[in-house]
Amino acid sequence: MLRRLHPDQPDSFAFTPDNQAWAEAQITKYPEGRQASAIIPLLWRAQEQEGWLTRPAIEAVADMLDLAYIRALEVASFYFMFQLQPVGSVAHIQVCGTTSCMICGAEDLVAVCKDKIAAKAHQLSADGKFSWEEVECLGSCANAPMAQIGKDYYEDLTAARMGEIIDELAKGEVPTPGPQNGRYASEPLSGLTSLKDFDSGHTKYNASVQLATDIGDTVKRIDGTEVPLLAPWGKANAAAGASNANEEPASKAPPKKTKSKAKPKPNAPVTENKSQQKQSDEAVPAGTKPALLTEAREGGADDLKLIKGVGPGLEKELNAAGVYHFDQIASWTEDEVAWADQNLVRFKGRVSRDNWVTQAKDLSEGKQTEFSQRAKKDGIYKE
Ligand code: FES
Repeated sequence: MLRRLHPDQPDSFAFTPDNQAWAEAQITKYPEGRQASAIIPLLWRAQEQEGWLTRPAIEAVADMLDLAYIRALEVASFYFMFQLQPVGSVAHIQVCGTTSCMICGAEDLVAVCKDKIAAKAHQLSADGKFSWEEVECLGSCANAPMAQIGKDYYEDLTAARMGEIIDELAKGEVPTPGPQNGRYASEPLSGLTSLKDFDSGHTKYNASVQLATDIGDTVKRIDGTEVPLLAPWGKANAAAGASNANEEPASKAPPKKTKSKAKPKPNAPVTENKSQQKQSDEAVPAGTKPALLTEAREGGADDLKLIKGVGPGLEKELNAAGVYHFDQIASWTEDEVAWADQNLVRFKGRVSRDNWVTQAKDLSEGKQTEFSQRAKKDGIYKE
């Protein structure tokens, strides 16, 4: 299937505050320089929030990770778990169409979806509540045929039960997920042949169905408030004395490296708030703020993306903070680099780690760096 961005896109995307904090905590899981590895959880969270993955959402995630937009789009368009078009406001139904399910009646389930939702996959139903698609094996082959709806599996389905489930969801009800034919899990339909004493003390439903039933809503979209926001690996948690991250509520997650949708005015100096927030991190020297410009000199700003570690998003932020030219960066002292590491880049330490000063010195003298040569030749940064 050709996976493209949908022609109709919203103007913007912003994580909810809770999701933003969650996303920033995820980034801290990865070592310096490897933050891009957080792309899948962040894209997934964006999709959970919006229902589908919009272009502004993909770009916002790319900006957070300082990735070229095309890199984020490559990931989003590769995995079919990412929906690149609007999905039903109540549920998007994913019918498994692989061997076991196909043999056991997946085509009948698809026929129900076509009848009740829309003739074609990825089309919205007339009321906008549902959409559907056929997907590859979802790993529940012993309970074929099955479909994933929201976060849960509906297994051992028949066409009739599939239709009922859609009707129940349309009425705002929450059908019980799991096997729909009376099985507890994936044991033989005729009953257990071993481990027969299993009955003692088990929950009413199998583990995942019990959890879904306890939550009471299988199709609710994550808005960041569901579970405590955990980042036990995070420095901020340690500083807060969180011996057990499970006790930390979402609102006490690591400090936000704010990616405000209210962009700083061009040429505005770095705000005191941001500076003060960063300086509250005691373990890191505050450094000295270097001289910043209110605008680029005559002739325009240098292409800061030629510095390894500076992507388009970061270049915009540097410009907004008053950094336009190679020679500005080339002149930074150790103290000023320390300040820049804390205040100018989302991932602390990037300025010193990527040796911006040395790179900028070469570039300001008209020399090429290994990275700038490669960037120009391969166009590896986005315009
Ligand atoms: S074939 Fe349908 S879940 Fe594996």
